[in-house]
Amino acid sequence: PSILVINGPNLNLLGSREPDVYGTETLDDVVRLASDAARAQGCATTTMQSNHEGEIIDAIHAARTTADGIVINAGALTHTSIAVRDALAGVDLPVVEVHISNVHRREEFRHHSFISAVADAVIVGAGVDGYRLAVDHLARQLRTDRP
Ligand code: DQA
Repeated sequence: PSILVINGPNLNLLGSREPDVYGTETLDDVVRLASDAARAQGCATTTMQSNHEGEIIDAIHAARTTADGIVINAGALTHTSIAVRDALAGVDLPVVEVHISNVHRREEFRHHSFISAVADAVIVGAGVDGYRLAVDHLARQLRTDRP
């Protein structure tokens, strides 16, 4: 099985961006951590990051033929994008939503996610370890889905 890990706007700046909120690990560290977690469960990963909503939607569509599940941190698009939500709803793949920070402890505008209602699981506030938890969970689900 194969998992697509999507990171949205500004997550390319991980490690230097508001380190008090998001920590000091970089996007490369996240990519490595996710692929290690997947490999441990016999899964492969592909990863993409984009600051552009349309590119994220295209990647979700492409996953229909290239992936068995999606882990997504949509960044601020989480709170604004009905289009990303509709894309996830439209592809019929299991989805795990990740947020590095505990969005519920932050500004009111981060409390609502358009994605959560179409996600199978949501991991919030576990730092970058949330990606490991998300990939591990999804990989285990994909294994048990396949006899
Ligand atoms: C985030 C939380 C969002 O509110 C924010 O816009 C981000 C990162 C997180 O991982 O904690 O870009 O998704």
